[in-house]
Amino acid sequence: MIFRPAKARPGPEAVAEDGGAVPRHVAVIMDGNGRWAQARGLPRVAGHRQGAEAARKVLRAAGEAGVECLTLYAFSSENWRRPEAEINDLMGLLRFYIGAELNALHKEGIRLKILGDHKAFRADVAKMVDQAVERTAGNGRMTLAVALNYGGRGELVRAAQRLAARAAAGTLAPASIDDAAIEAELDTAGLPPLDLLIRTSGEHRLSNFLLWQAAYAELLFVDTLWPDFDEEAFRGALAAFAGRQRRFGGR
Ligand code: FPP
Repeated sequence: MIFRPAKARPGPEAVAEDGGAVPRHVAVIMDGNGRWAQARGLPRVAGHRQGAEAARKVLRAAGEAGVECLTLYAFSSENWRRPEAEINDLMGLLRFYIGAELNALHKEGIRLKILGDHKAFRADVAKMVDQAVERTAGNGRMTLAVALNYGGRGELVRAAQRLAARAAAGTLAPASIDDAAIEAELDTAGLPPLDLLIRTSGEHRLSNFLLWQAAYAELLFVDTLWPDFDEEAFRGALAAFAGRQRRFGGR
C-alpha cells in the first residue's frame, strides 16, 4: 500500500498541520546513490536500488501530505555518458519497479506521467512505460511524473521547434508567443506550477532539470544522500517550504 487509507487530500489551497502551505508540485533531484553505495563498499546498483526504495517512501509521504504532483529525476539526457553496465542496471530497476508497483499505483489513484523522451530506451522498457502511462491515465488523486532521458534545455528546444514550425506554416503569429504558449509545449504542460525543488547529497546545481519551471520554485538543498532520504526527511522539506516567504518578484 502506498498511502494510508481514508485520508482525503487537502486540495490546492491546502494548509499543513503546522499552519504552513503545502506545495502543489514538488520535484526532486535524487542525487547521491553512488556515494551511498561506495561508503558501504557496495556496487553502485545497490545505491540505485536503495534510491528506488527512497522514491517509494517519498511518494507515500507526498500523497499523505496532499502534494498533487511529485516529479522525480530518474535519468537525465546526460546520464547516457555513464558506463553501459550502469545504464543497464538503471533500466532493469525501472522495469522491476514498474512491474512490482504498477498495480499499487493504479489502486491508489496515481497517474504516471513521463517527462523527456523515453522512446530512446530499450524497446521492452519503453513499451512497459507506455503501458503504465496508459493504464493510469484516468487517475486523479495524484500525479507521479518521472523524468526519463530528460533535459531542461532539450525540452525548451523541442518546444521552440514546434512553435517555429507553426509560425512557418502561418498558423501562429510570432508576436503571440507568450509564457503560456511556451508552457503549453513543455513536457510538464497541464501539471501544477513547480513550488519546491529538492536536491539531495550536498550538491548545489540544477543539472539541466526543469529550467523553465524552476523560475519561481523554492530551492532546497540537503546534505542527505538520496537513499537515506525518507518520509521524515520529506516532511522536513515540506516544513522548510512552509517557512519560506514567496514573493514572485513582488515585495
Ligand atoms: C543520482 O545518483 C541518481 C541517478 C542518476 C539515478 C536515480 C535513479 C533511481 C533513484 C532509481 C530508479 C528510480 C525509479 C523512479 C524507479 P548518482 O549515481 O549520481 O550518485 P553519486 O553522485 O553519489 O555518484
